[in-house]
Amino acid sequence: MPHTTAFARNQWYVVAYAHEVGRELLGRTVLGEPLVLYRTEEDGRAVALHDRCVHRRYPLSASGLDGDRIVCGYHGFTYDTTGTCVYVPGQRRVPRTARVASYPVVEQDALVWVWIGDPALADPGGIPRAPHLDSPGWVTVSGMEPIDADYGLLVDNLLDLSHETYLHGGYIGTPEVAETPITTEVDEGAGVVRVSRRMEDAECPPFYAKSTGIKGRITRWQDIEYHAPCLYLLHSRIAPVGVVPEPDGSDPNGFHTEITYAITPSADGHVYDFWMVSRDWATDDAEVTEFLRANNHTVVMQDVDALNLLQRTLGTERTGYQELSINIDTGGLAARRILARLVEEGAKPVEGVR
Ligand code: FES
Ligand SMILES: [Fe+2]
Repeated sequence: MPHTTAFARNQWYVVAYAHEVGRELLGRTVLGEPLVLYRTEEDGRAVALHDRCVHRRYPLSASGLDGDRIVCGYHGFTYDTTGTCVYVPGQRRVPRTARVASYPVVEQDALVWVWIGDPALADPGGIPRAPHLDSPGWVTVSGMEPIDADYGLLVDNLLDLSHETYLHGGYIGTPEVAETPITTEVDEGAGVVRVSRRMEDAECPPFYAKSTGIKGRITRWQDIEYHAPCLYLLHSRIAPVGVVPEPDGSDPNGFHTEITYAITPSADGHVYDFWMVSRDWATDDAEVTEFLRANNHTVVMQDVDALNLLQRTLGTERTGYQELSINIDTGGLAARRILARLVEEGAKPVEGVR
């Protein structure tokens, strides 16, 4: 298959928004592993199990809950929250091997993270934070779009915002985005790429002009922080030209927007694009909320359409085609290097664990 980025195992991935996991069984596929998610009646925690019944592989996500147990919708094999089968029809003895895998789950910052890999290595302390998603004083709009593209194409897309000028003109793009050079910092050890673009005198794109009411030109800062493999933060600050943060760093006249993405590889050539826009301004203005939701959804769909097209196009290329990279690609290339390392580390057999 052309242009597929290998999956990095032994990593945390966003599988759902916290509000999506409840008493209805939810099916998602992460790194090619089908998962079923639900929330227990007992203590309200989220559970993730392998989504295939051990009997004839019926999807458990198409089955039902009996209390905190999943009853397979085909012949009734019944699984507890650990994935252990506790009942089979027609006989008293439950086969010893009747169990499905259960996955470590952490809920944090309104996101449900799942660990794909060796459970013994799962460290919740390693999950990157996005506190604005679940903090007083912040309002968030969000959505999730599945894309039929290699997740590496979405990483590329998000690490280079110069595409805003062309793909998102009339929404978030203005000429200055593509014209302004970036600075890139890479923390190879931590697996973090930072890309900054500081525009000191720029046109205000409709996305911000309509929502903030700013009439003239703006200072626009875009500071990206990509925590490979899954979490992408874009710290956006805009203010009328001439308005600068106070010497102590406070910035009462600037507009701060946190744009968050979770890039979750689903299967080869498929990725979940979780998108969130959080703001600490006009937080009680429902019209602004609705405008940002609809406008950002349109912007996300422009990327979705472009990446679907790009993936289909790459599928018609001969293998071994060449790319040509320039300065704007520095962040994306760094991200590819880090992902390649994480893939390699995740593929190593772990001592003493089968
Ligand atoms: S497939 Fe699940 S019980 Fe038969
Ligand atoms: Fe985009």
